[in-house]
Amino acid sequence: MRKPMIAGNWKLHKTLTETKELAARLADELADIDTIDIVIAPVFTSLTTAAEAIKGSAVKLAAQNCYPEETGAFTGEVSPSLLKDAGCEYVIIGHSERRQLLDETDLFINRKLLKTLDAGLQPIFCIGETLQERESDQMLEVLTEQVKGGLANLTAEQMENVVIAYEPVWAIGTGKTATDEQAQEAHSFIRGLLQGLFSQEVALATRILYGGSVKPNNVDGLMAMDDIDGALVGGASLKAEDFIRLVRFQKP
Ligand code: PGA
Repeated sequence: MRKPMIAGNWKLHKTLTETKELAARLADELADIDTIDIVIAPVFTSLTTAAEAIKGSAVKLAAQNCYPEETGAFTGEVSPSLLKDAGCEYVIIGHSERRQLLDETDLFINRKLLKTLDAGLQPIFCIGETLQERESDQMLEVLTEQVKGGLANLTAEQMENVVIAYEPVWAIGTGKTATDEQAQEAHSFIRGLLQGLFSQEVALATRILYGGSVKPNNVDGLMAMDDIDGALVGGASLKAEDFIRLVRFQKP
């Protein structure tokens, strides 16, 4: 009932030429897929180039960030409606790199989620604990805070357009994936939080992606878990063969 999603977060990688090449290849080689949402998130400057390359295909476009205002004196920022204008359907919000490197707070992330939904885009809302938080038994508390803070003032109806990505910070870009069971445990906890905050219906309908060193050799096990509905992928989304293999994950 929850459509799986495989999303590639390209981070700060790829020139215009490389974007065009990879996006066009994915569009071509994944043309037969309609049971999985396939998403790529290139850098801002490549969005329109990517949009052109994937036009009419199964691959959809996401931005990696946005600013929670429509227009105005906000030098260097980009609004959700301009991202939509550039061809995006999704926006990654609250990625741990932005939380850590740019001090993004739950409050700021919540403002972005609300503006993104207002603009008719779907947020891919990222949460996840650090190694220190996990080892000091604060993981559940941290996830609770991030979920409550990020989703404050959202309605059950708006939740239909929200995708959550659980990305333990210690697993991002490190090659250390959470085990299938560790990921499942966190996902099930997050689903429980959604039930408490909204309803059982919302909890059951919301897609929760896993992120953190998802690779061709571990995707099948992760995707076999009950509460894992897809993956948000960094490193392995930069190579066509790897990303294609992730989209073509094998069901048990
Ligand atoms: P990774 O990145 O797959 O390279 O660990 C995941 C992410 O940051 O979304």
